Amino acid sequence: MLRPIGTRLAIVAVFAMSVAGCGRQERQVSYGADVEPILDRACRECHTTGKQGFAASGLSVASYEDLMRGTRFGPVVLAGDADSSVLVQLIEGRADPSLKMPHGDEPLYQGEIETIRLWVSQGAADN
Ligand code: HEC
Repeated sequence: MLRPIGTRLAIVAVFAMSVAGCGRQERQVSYGADVEPILDRACRECHTTGKQGFAASGLSVASYEDLMRGTRFGPVVLAGDADSSVLVQLIEGRADPSLKMPHGDEPLYQGEIETIRLWVSQGAADN
């Protein structure tokens, strides 16, 4: 049974306000506790010395310093600017689909993508 339109609008309004509220007090993301475990699980098998992703691009995720050095063409993380960071573009599939990372058939979970995006927006610190 449908609720009267007024009630439905009220529910939408409350939902919109709670989403906006979350944005204002966003959680602080930690590289060591939040980001590194994702990279270790989903990227490291290809992106360390001697592995295919490293061989093809020069990107290693073995350490914070390696990640921030980026590929042999330059950085993939621009601190504070998630939209322009190649790392974020690739995991969000915003570049060519053939470049979506990770390669293979196990994409990142939506929550993991959001964690990495937030970490970059918050300054990509070694925290
Ligand atoms: C199965 C292997 C594999 C996995 C897993 C993988 N990559 Fe890659 N990655 C590659 C290869 C190979 C390339 C070289 C470019 C290409 O072939 O797409 C690459 C290239 C890249 C590049 C450079 C693209 C450019 O602009 O040159 C980035 C950034 C990247 N990967 C990030 C990631 C991240 C982040 C993860 C984990 C979420 C990941 N990769 C997981 C194989 C992998």
